[in-house]
Amino acid sequence: MPTAPVYILGIESSCDETAAAVVRSGEQVISNAVASQIATHLPYGGVVPELASREHLRAIVPIVRKALEDAGQNYRSVDALAVTKGPGLAGALLVGVSYAKALAFALDKPLIAVNHLEGHIHAVLLEERQRGNYEIEFPLMTLVVSGGHTHLYLAQPQAAGWTYENVGHTRDDAAGEAFDKVAKLLALGYPGGPIVDKLAKHGQAGAIRFPIAQIKHRQRGDKSPLPERPHFDFSYSGLKTAVLRYVETHGMSAAIERRRRALAEAGKTDPETVLAHCDRETLDLVAGFQRAVVDDLVAKTLAAAREYAIRTLFVSGGVAANSELRTTFEASAAQEGLPVHFPSRPLSTDNAAMIAAAAYPKFLARDFAPPDLSAEASLPLK
Ligand code: KG4
Ligand code: ZN
Repeated sequence: MPTAPVYILGIESSCDETAAAVVRSGEQVISNAVASQIATHLPYGGVVPELASREHLRAIVPIVRKALEDAGQNYRSVDALAVTKGPGLAGALLVGVSYAKALAFALDKPLIAVNHLEGHIHAVLLEERQRGNYEIEFPLMTLVVSGGHTHLYLAQPQAAGWTYENVGHTRDDAAGEAFDKVAKLLALGYPGGPIVDKLAKHGQAGAIRFPIAQIKHRQRGDKSPLPERPHFDFSYSGLKTAVLRYVETHGMSAAIERRRRALAEAGKTDPETVLAHCDRETLDLVAGFQRAVVDDLVAKTLAAAREYAIRTLFVSGGVAANSELRTTFEASAAQEGLPVHFPSRPLSTDNAAMIAAAAYPKFLARDFAPPDLSAEASLPLK
């Protein structure tokens, strides 16, 4: 017997995007509205938490209205609400959680709490189903690679929703954070990932090579118990320092300052303008940095995939939008006969469609949030 379609209104406010979306039965995006705060944080070269909360407060009501309107739905017609509970910035999460709780209470609709990382994983599943692919083979592993995370999860559907096992994570900076910090250091604008992605195409990655820290699972003197299963950890703070050292030892600081002033005077940060203010060495540096991150992400993920005999690989999160990461993953995974799936670019970065999609199995399992639901900045994914 075919089940009735379930319309879930998703709400996301964990970082610097206020987003709302309507998704049908976890498999069809009906609307997907995102209010980006890039312009607010641009002058600071990174997300300012207090400004993020203020912008979420400003944007949340109009963005939910837009998502409903775009979907041809209204507050009463959706079946349930879903909201990001964590992880993320505490004040930012609180805006979404408080609003969703109030709305669900007023409408007398169930509210579903979603882990942001689970959302990134379900973004891939949602789009695979949307294009008719229901044949995902297990075991499934996902690399969630964003501004806040570089995490490897084994993901498994169960009767009462999905469960996750973390088999690797960053020991320091996330990969997206490294992109953002290197772009800030070189005065290329914010966020760093998309601009580095575009500039790297104009540089020679082989001209400047950067080594990446290989993490030993156990340091000398470490008395902590060994994990039961092998871990594949990442580290990008050393790479960021290596770029800084390169800049200092190659006398690039004056050129960076000139670019900073020129871009501020022009009042533009589009890739063409930034490119026009980059010399060959800067482009080679950016390309070398990106190559180092991409090679490391791909090598460690595929090593983990071999260890856990993975049959399907998902790559999700903001950095999954990176063109070199996509082509390298596709080529390397194909050599091992491993299918790899990415979300479309709009569903790679933060959005609420992924939150509504991740909520669907919880809706079926009647796993609803308690009335005293609160945001959790360091919520783990289990
Ligand atoms: O998933 P997301 O929107 O927010 C977090 O949950 O963090 O990811 C944002 C991150 C930022 O660090 C941004 O620089 C990075 O994703 N990013 C990219 C690209 N597009 C966004 N990194 C590399 N290449 C890209 N094309
Ligand atoms: Zn994210």
